[in-house]
Amino acid sequence: MIKKIITIFGSTGNLMYKKLFPALDALIKKGLINQDVKILCIARKDCTLEDYVEEAKKEVKENLDWDSIIPYLTYIKMDLFEMTDYIMLKDMIHAEGKDLDVMFYLAVPPTLFEPIAKGLSISKIMTKAQENRRILFEKPFGSDFEDAKHINQTLQELFDEKQIYRIDHYLGKEMIQNIFIMRFANSLFKHQWDNKRIKSITVLAKESETVMMRGGYYDGVGALKDMVQSHLLQMVSLITMNQPIENKSSAIKDSKVDILNKVEFDLNSSIFGQYDGYLDESGIQKDSNTETFVFLKAHINHKNWKGVPIYFLTGKKLNEKRSEIIIEFESDDINQKGWEFNNLDYNQLIIRIAPEEGVTLKMNVKTPGLNASIIPAELTYCHACQSVGNTPEAYEKLLLDLLNKDDTLYTRWDEIVASWQTIAKLKDKSHELVNYQSFEELKQLILETHVDVYKNI
Ligand code: BG6
Repeated sequence: MIKKIITIFGSTGNLMYKKLFPALDALIKKGLINQDVKILCIARKDCTLEDYVEEAKKEVKENLDWDSIIPYLTYIKMDLFEMTDYIMLKDMIHAEGKDLDVMFYLAVPPTLFEPIAKGLSISKIMTKAQENRRILFEKPFGSDFEDAKHINQTLQELFDEKQIYRIDHYLGKEMIQNIFIMRFANSLFKHQWDNKRIKSITVLAKESETVMMRGGYYDGVGALKDMVQSHLLQMVSLITMNQPIENKSSAIKDSKVDILNKVEFDLNSSIFGQYDGYLDESGIQKDSNTETFVFLKAHINHKNWKGVPIYFLTGKKLNEKRSEIIIEFESDDINQKGWEFNNLDYNQLIIRIAPEEGVTLKMNVKTPGLNASIIPAELTYCHACQSVGNTPEAYEKLLLDLLNKDDTLYTRWDEIVASWQTIAKLKDKSHELVNYQSFEELKQLILETHVDVYKNI
């Protein structure tokens, strides 16, 4: 008997093929999605389930167990602006039973958030009173602060806050969840975590891929709104927030919001870039000045972080896919008078998020043997090596939490407000756009002006 229905709007989109199908496959394999779940895949295209699956098989890169997935799927063609289509969806859902747990996943651009939310509400598929209905929004939540506020107001009128889930999939990543434990469960770091000990923080998310088939979406957004407003600011807030008063979702979010409200970008220390060939990609305006790369310097208006530069770096078509957080420690103590410790490397803690998950601690040690000179050494922890099989992809964890009504790893409205407000000043300023063919050119530019940036960016 069906007890839960996951309804996915935008089922022929990039997100569905790249992230959601692999996550669903993994949850089915682990038995965490079983026979009482049904998955409704909604899109505009007029096709049969067989055609849809054939298309999906072509688009999904991973080798999935399609024979196990197909029995869960139903394909539904819908016009998202047509009320009769919502009534049809309601009838289909009700035909499975009245008291089902139903989730609506909006894997669509923010311009469709309101029409879908209204369609669900007017047709009474989902109303405020129904605790067993949840609606999930992909990022970016709105196109700017005003738009986000407008969408949120509509949602608050239609639904209860407990029914609303706002996703930032970076929060579901293993090593991002690990930041909390590393910081607060290790006295080694707990007491080294402020401007007296930390010299700089660098948060980077480099991608080697281009915009691929997402030009239509990406061109209206750019790297700042696509990555910094959400993923990178979330990482910074987790790295710099005060220890929450308790280990509870709301207290953690309170601490993050406090930091997000205090992040300020240095308007004159930014580099915006666009990769060579971007204008020829499909879906891109021929005279587009959308940035595909951004490097930013910020500081946090908090006594613990006074004077600590926070660097943000993200972009497409760079030399590699790599996401990490680099915390560089001060060197005062190691250059004491009377000691022949020269040219020492700074201690660094590197939290590696992708492609490999783990932690590296950079230290100075003695060379082995009779010679007493000093060399840098790396202590490395491999996170994925600790588990049987691969660590769960972010979407796997977040979908499971959605099924279990756990919103801890979802973002609260005030976090989104703070993030939009933080980037608003940058967006208002006009920036020179550097055309780049390789990451090396950008790296030279960065290192020329920001000598304290971690050199291995
Ligand atoms: C998404 C962005 O939120 O994150 C994409 O919209 C980006 O442009 C992606 O490619 C990166 O996520 P991940 O998990 O592959 O690092």
